[in-house]
Amino acid sequence: MAEDRLVMAFESSADETSVAIVKNGHEIVSLETATQIKSHQRFGGIVPEVASRHHIEQVTVLADAALTDAGMTYDDLTAIAVTQGPGLVGALLIGVTAAKTIAWAHQLPLVPVIHLAGHISAANFVEPIQYPALALMVSGGHTELVLMRSEYEYLVIGDTRDDAAGECYDKVGRTMGLQYPSGKTLDEMAHRGTPTYDLPRAMLHEDNFDFSFSGLKSAVINLMHNAEQRGEQVNLDNLAASFQDAVVEVLVTKTQRALTEYPVKSFIVAGGVAANQGLRDGLTEMMQHFPKTRFIPVPIALAGDNGAMIGAAGDIAYRHGKRADLTLNANPALEFDYLDD
Ligand code: KG4
Ligand code: ZN
Repeated sequence: MAEDRLVMAFESSADETSVAIVKNGHEIVSLETATQIKSHQRFGGIVPEVASRHHIEQVTVLADAALTDAGMTYDDLTAIAVTQGPGLVGALLIGVTAAKTIAWAHQLPLVPVIHLAGHISAANFVEPIQYPALALMVSGGHTELVLMRSEYEYLVIGDTRDDAAGECYDKVGRTMGLQYPSGKTLDEMAHRGTPTYDLPRAMLHEDNFDFSFSGLKSAVINLMHNAEQRGEQVNLDNLAASFQDAVVEVLVTKTQRALTEYPVKSFIVAGGVAANQGLRDGLTEMMQHFPKTRFIPVPIALAGDNGAMIGAAGDIAYRHGKRADLTLNANPALEFDYLDD
């Protein structure tokens, strides 16, 4: 029997420092995460310098904890994986530097991972992704439809022209006076409300798989401002429900179109916004039209940024021979075509 692969993975692209040990790409042996959300909340978004400082404080502590939890030493590991990008450059650098140092000190292969592949690979913790596969990657920074003909081929067939879905949630939430990040709160409000406000669904009827959310964001902001000027009360739960309906309708409709054009064996929804209950429900219903396609929503606990997903993607990259040496640098604008290097 082949020996188990044990990948230690580092994630530090935004406001979570996270280290995991993942076995054979689909089993979480240990996962240690430190969130910094509280430090950023009073600023209404991530402050890059504050993020870097927290990552520095946490990264080695979490690596030690991940080993202790797993009952392992560095000698047990097969490889070190790390998020190279995209994300905040100063934040990424902390994970990259920690991973390089550990890989060098313990003579382990160093495997760079694109954060977005990490989000998608988290589906492997549920069941093995069957290829070809399609993923809807919805996070704070990205909204993409990604076609994978095999496990290490990522083709972006749809992308946002402006804001990402999560970014739109956070900006709309801010206008409503909610704390950052407001996706989860808006999701809960939406379930209490009724969609009574008429909001735009951008690019719904265009013959492509692209998205646009800035018009929707502006529509909500204008509605709030106009009501304030007229001294009218806005029912925030109803507005949240109307907003969520618009986001979900666009995401579900475009995904359905992509699945019709590209028949796949697995469909994955991943990224922080994949935790959204309205989206999960909408996709589940839509998937009834595709009985031959397995629907794999990433577990809510693994939808947001975490080291385990980087371990899952790192295992795939490791098996495909992706390696970095000690010149590896963080790349805040990393895209899927980095695989061609
Ligand atoms: O993937 P992620 O943790 O970080 C990025 O890579 O961007 O995603 C964070 C985003 C935030 O914008 C947050 O508001 C959003 O995911 N989010 C949600 C929900 N939970 C988190 N958006 C909508 N509904 C949710 N339940
Ligand atoms: Zn992310």
